[in-house]
Amino acid sequence: MSRTQDALYAELDLELSWSERDLPERERTKHVHRLHPYLGKFIPQLVETLLARYVPAGGRVLDPFAGSGTTLVQALESGHDAVGVDVAAFNALLMRVKVAEYNLFTLEHELRDAVARLAAADGTTRADVPPYVRRWYAPCAAAELLAFRALIPDYEHADVLRVVLARAARSARRTTHFDLDFPRAPQRGPYWCHKHKRECRPVDRAEHFLRRYALDTVARIKAFARVRARGRSAAVLHGDARALDLDGPFAGVVTSPPYPGLIDYHEQHRYAYELLGLDDLGPLELGRGSTKASVEEYAKGVAEVLERSAERVRRSGRVVIVVNDRRELYPDILERAGLRLEHRVRRHVNRRTGRRAGEYFEDVLVARKKSHS
Ligand SMILES: C[S@@+](CC[C@H](N)C(=O)[O-])C[C@H]1O[C@@H](n2cnc3c(N)ncnc32)[C@H](O)[C@@H]1O
Repeated sequence: MSRTQDALYAELDLELSWSERDLPERERTKHVHRLHPYLGKFIPQLVETLLARYVPAGGRVLDPFAGSGTTLVQALESGHDAVGVDVAAFNALLMRVKVAEYNLFTLEHELRDAVARLAAADGTTRADVPPYVRRWYAPCAAAELLAFRALIPDYEHADVLRVVLARAARSARRTTHFDLDFPRAPQRGPYWCHKHKRECRPVDRAEHFLRRYALDTVARIKAFARVRARGRSAAVLHGDARALDLDGPFAGVVTSPPYPGLIDYHEQHRYAYELLGLDDLGPLELGRGSTKASVEEYAKGVAEVLERSAERVRRSGRVVIVVNDRRELYPDILERAGLRLEHRVRRHVNRRTGRRAGEYFEDVLVARKKSHS
């Protein structure tokens, strides 16, 4: 082990450095956290611990880069109200579906009804298939996705059905099993699959995914309903956190900002934007690109969001930021945001899949407004 690694290990907060055995996948993806895949989320148990450590019991929490809504969901489970902001419309939709309160009987009835109607629909290929759908889906899968989409407006819980459609659309793309995150070109024929170590074929149907995910969604929303605190709610704001009114006051902020050049948060759900006709605010997304100019714009933008967020936090409230700051941008970002670092905790992140293997560490920065220190 190198000396730098020794130093990294010496600083670890073991309570936040779970091993695969401590925290198996089913725990990390419990209830609504796995309503739809999302690359770049933090794990719910991390949020749970940070809320317990740094946010007063029952206080309202803000996440200005809320992503798939991990902070919001865990806040509700831990007895807090919460507000989440995200610039990506699909993320806002996903969060709303996760944190909404449902009449579970109606929800289940509607999802089962939609699936039954889909099974009865005739699966003939349509003439009006949009170019994206024609390119990325086999004719039968395209017909099933579009037939399901046509049913959505008939239901009260249309947004839940939209998330089911997006999840099925992700799985039904003509892609390899090992490249579901950012496939570059459609995979039309059989291929050698690194994940399954055998020859696989791209899928050509979507109905089975729609059925499976509809039932899974009901089960997950029911499971969350059993553990969320009563009388607590979360609001979701869609837009640029540099510009939106963040409301407040808040007892604390728990967030993980994007990082330059790592993940394009609109692009990872391209299929959802195409199928659901969502607003694409990509140019306002922070962290796109890694040129000197885009990194500078990133630092300025994140600092602005953190400063605006901190202004809404009560006296003595904490701003907690989870980041893997390999460029060491955060000392300057905190300074620009008028925040003072109270302490930094380092955690060891266990990467899960072989193809993304490699050790990796993350910092939890606990800061406060300078004027109140
Ligand atoms: C690292 S992810 C957050 C993931 C989140 N912690 C979770 O567990 O799902 C960062 C998020 O910031 C969002 N984002 C990027 N620029 C933004 C902006 N200007 N305003 C609001 N959100 C933005 C991205 O869309 C992305 O979802």
